[in-house]
Amino acid sequence: MEDENGFEYSSEMKEYYKSDNVATKYHEAFSDDGSWRHKLIAKRERNAIETLLRKVPHETVLDIPTGTGKLAPVFADAGSDVLACDISENMLQIAETEYERAGISDARFQVCDAEEITETIDESFDVAVSLRLLHRVPTEVKRNILTELGRVADYVIASTAIETQFHSFRRDVRQSVLGGDERDHCYESPETTQEIFSDGFEIISSKRVLPVLSQERVYLLQPVE
Ligand SMILES: C[S@@+](CC[C@H](N)C(=O)[O-])C[C@H]1O[C@@H](n2cnc3c(N)ncnc32)[C@H](O)[C@@H]1O
Repeated sequence: MEDENGFEYSSEMKEYYKSDNVATKYHEAFSDDGSWRHKLIAKRERNAIETLLRKVPHETVLDIPTGTGKLAPVFADAGSDVLACDISENMLQIAETEYERAGISDARFQVCDAEEITETIDESFDVAVSLRLLHRVPTEVKRNILTELGRVADYVIASTAIETQFHSFRRDVRQSVLGGDERDHCYESPETTQEIFSDGFEIISSKRVLPVLSQERVYLLQPVE
């Protein structure tokens, strides 16, 4: 499925991270050896998730996509019992090591497509967490994934990227100076994001990950009947 800016969700998101090499590189980028920008973003993401997680019961957590286990320290501090899922076995393998390193020895790991959570997992959770997935999926897939998350958890914490004129301008300037990727991926306007995230949910709270430098915002949602 390709969006109007040429971003191909299936190959560039679902399949992309299945490669061993990509998983290793992703992990390195956000680890202690990564760039200051990646490390700062990872730190702020963990802070945002932790703040929202602590507002609600969080004994049991579904972390999807867990990636290489960026949130393991957050769940270790919160004392949560975690099922960590991802579509990529290679990402999951690194996540196992990260969870162990964070001191969580009883986390469980499972390959799962976020579009098919209820077909794969026969369990419910206090909270389902989804960090850094929805900003790269087309609108209808966003809705589907949010619905799936809400079906298995009392609360959902999910991040997305909000497109504003400022961020579009900032990316254009960066692209013309530094080059690199100029596509818009699957970012949505503040109004569309509000509509998508309140469709079937009450928005309890939200947090910006990093003002100015990042478009990422994390939402705490409660499914409504
Ligand atoms: C940018 S990484 C984010 C991982 C982690 N949450 C983090 O913040 O580091 C995106 C992850 O989404 C996974 N992914 C992509 N499409 C998926 C899908 N449909 N279901 C589950 N995982 C998916 C990829 O394998 C990858 O691990």
